[in-house]
Amino acid sequence: MEQGRLPTRVMVVKSGEEDSPTVMEAGAVLRAGGLVAFPTETVYGLGASALDEQAVAGIFKAKGRPTDNPLIVHIDSFASLGQYFQRVPERARLLAAHFWPGPLTLVLRDDNRFPAVVSGGLGTVAVRVPAHPVALALLRAAGVPVAAPSANASGRPSPTTAAHVLDDLDGRIDLVLDGGPAGLGVESTVLDLTGEQPVILRPGGVTPRQLEALLGPVKLDPAVNGAAGDEKPRSPGMKYTHYAPQAPVMLFDGNDSARMAKRILAEAERLAVRGQRVGILACRDNESMYQGKGYAVVTTGWRDEPGTIAAALYESLRCFDRQSVDAILAEGVSTEGLGLAVMNRLLRAAGGNVVKI
Ligand code: TXA
Ligand code: MG
Repeated sequence: MEQGRLPTRVMVVKSGEEDSPTVMEAGAVLRAGGLVAFPTETVYGLGASALDEQAVAGIFKAKGRPTDNPLIVHIDSFASLGQYFQRVPERARLLAAHFWPGPLTLVLRDDNRFPAVVSGGLGTVAVRVPAHPVALALLRAAGVPVAAPSANASGRPSPTTAAHVLDDLDGRIDLVLDGGPAGLGVESTVLDLTGEQPVILRPGGVTPRQLEALLGPVKLDPAVNGAAGDEKPRSPGMKYTHYAPQAPVMLFDGNDSARMAKRILAEAERLAVRGQRVGILACRDNESMYQGKGYAVVTTGWRDEPGTIAAALYESLRCFDRQSVDAILAEGVSTEGLGLAVMNRLLRAAGGNVVKI
């Protein structure tokens, strides 16, 4: 926490106790223009009333977020959408019926119901209904739509626990609702519905295959599989190096995991000889290959179960900070299913430092 600031209050919300005075109080803090971090089914969000220009400006300040990076508006149900958007596209209706509440964000045409700071004056607004019971109870208690980016300091890995939120934002926000670890571990899929064909601007909890089963062909924005700064992305957040731990990340990308381990070990040795403390981010399948050599080995999940990797990803990246490593060598994964979101985050964490093998 920074000097001269009051510590952020933390209030625990137990499962099954979401309709509690605690959550009512947090809702009142939001209504009054305060900043409240809360769990969602993806990652923790940092909320402010989306109708309150000053409160939303406070989010950008607390996170150190560039103001041209727009926020997602969270609402409590599809039924509320009509209050903020004049024409709800048929595709939005269909998607909401299947995926809301859940990890899908829809980019719709802006009807100027929110102050311009919310969407950076892009002419569009991103909106979703989160699935976490605490998030939904908070939205109902607040009685206002809530603008919420991930509750990390800008550029850092997203928070999946209340402790991660405090690591980055203690003293900068009013309150954290602690509802335990967020489940999915990667953020929502951001889908642009303003053009002829739907475009995935950011891969996330809902996979391209799930979307295509419902909509037919869906495009992937070229920035999704590139490094930060490669393209001019339509989702402004994708242009920044992001999700990054303190040490530089080198990402190894390929399908042959034995070969990958060999290349990583060779690089680790090269760095260790130069006196660097090396961190290795590994899937559980390869863990034993790296152990006993003096490296800081952090494992995520199983290579063929990308959901287990997604759930552990951000905590793993933050773990390297606590171990003060000088460099991180990260195993890439297949882009099947949730793997697409995992690889997208690792590409950004690596800021383009990718070794193809
Ligand atoms: O799972 C999530 O989506 C989490 C939880 C808290 O809901 N939120 C989240 O927000 O990840 P944030 O701000 O960290 O990421 C929002 C992404 C950014 O890449 C941003 O550029 C993009 O969505 N975005 C927001 N509004 C947009 C818009 N109108 N057009 C295009 N991209 C937009
Ligand atoms: Mg974020």
